[in-house]
Amino acid sequence: MIKPVETRNDLPTALLRALGDPIRLRILRLLEREELSVGELSRTLALAQSRVSNHLRVLREHDLLAERHAGTSTFLRLGLESATGGTGNLAARLWGALSADLGEHHADLERLRQVVAERREVDPEFFDRVAGRWDTIGIEFASGQARQRAVASLMPAGQVWGDLGCGTGYVARAMLGLCARIVCVDSSAGMLAEARARLAEHPGETEVDLRLGDLDALPIGEGELDGAVAAMVLHHLPDAAGCLAEVFRVLRPGGTAVVVELDPHREAWLSAELGDRHLGIDAQAVAAAFSAAGFEAVRMEALDDRYRPAPPPGQEALPGGGLPLYTLRGRKPLD
Ligand SMILES: C[S@@+](CC[C@H](N)C(=O)[O-])C[C@H]1O[C@@H](n2cnc3c(N)ncnc32)[C@H](O)[C@@H]1O
Repeated sequence: MIKPVETRNDLPTALLRALGDPIRLRILRLLEREELSVGELSRTLALAQSRVSNHLRVLREHDLLAERHAGTSTFLRLGLESATGGTGNLAARLWGALSADLGEHHADLERLRQVVAERREVDPEFFDRVAGRWDTIGIEFASGQARQRAVASLMPAGQVWGDLGCGTGYVARAMLGLCARIVCVDSSAGMLAEARARLAEHPGETEVDLRLGDLDALPIGEGELDGAVAAMVLHHLPDAAGCLAEVFRVLRPGGTAVVVELDPHREAWLSAELGDRHLGIDAQAVAAAFSAAGFEAVRMEALDDRYRPAPPPGQEALPGGGLPLYTLRGRKPLD
């Protein structure tokens, strides 16, 4: 004999069946709005009282009715209080009932674990599918430094680098943690004081060595540096040759020098505002000066970045969102 299934009223399907009948739903909608006796209810529904009573019995079994007795009459209304003590609304009760223990659910969970594990294992086409839109999916890091710092960490340990014309230590700040010692040189004691303050905010393993001096006569011993940066400083000097000869002297054989410079421009106000002696410098001229100083493997790279000094009042904003920048680097030969 086939056993009838789900005959117990505590099964979620029984509650759903109780709610799934159109007449019972009409009854609940009326009792939500108005407290009614059985007689009033049957007149409102235009149904025989016996039929209505049968439906009320089903609703009572599921605690869906609240009753009030007055004399010989009984008044009914929608009862959302649960007989098990809960006072949640109908949706919560329904979900509670649906989440009740179903025999098959445990077996479902077992299979679910397996299905999810398989999904995580390998999806060989995943990256092929997203490759085209990968860069627009939102993979930016907050400061934009993470990848650069990671790659810079591949530098050999224990190096000594120079930040020549260091100003307020903007470049030296980026060197912190990546080399053993930074030698910062500037001809302005005020700038060196600012650099000292900035670099002291980030104490770390890198020793910071601040020296007052001129780029044409660097206060650095021959071969003392493994690498040197002169950022935004050549355009302050009468010419690049004297400085690059000095940089060549203070690098060890095989050491690298890098300059960051502005392309030639027409913003004459930069002379008054920022003390610029030249309005940018032609990269070819700097490359020639590198070679003349003895550097090899001289290479120029246009930067995907702009120099954006704030214009003084009355001065138009810079065209193109800022002035183009480039780097130029060269290596001191090993012999
Ligand atoms: C525009 S700032 C650049 C600072 C820093 N390198 C940077 O990129 O933010 C130029 C710096 O070069 C310094 N400077 C100018 N002429 C110099 C010279 N002949 N010798 C040493 N430092 C000089 C100035 O004092 C100033 O701090």
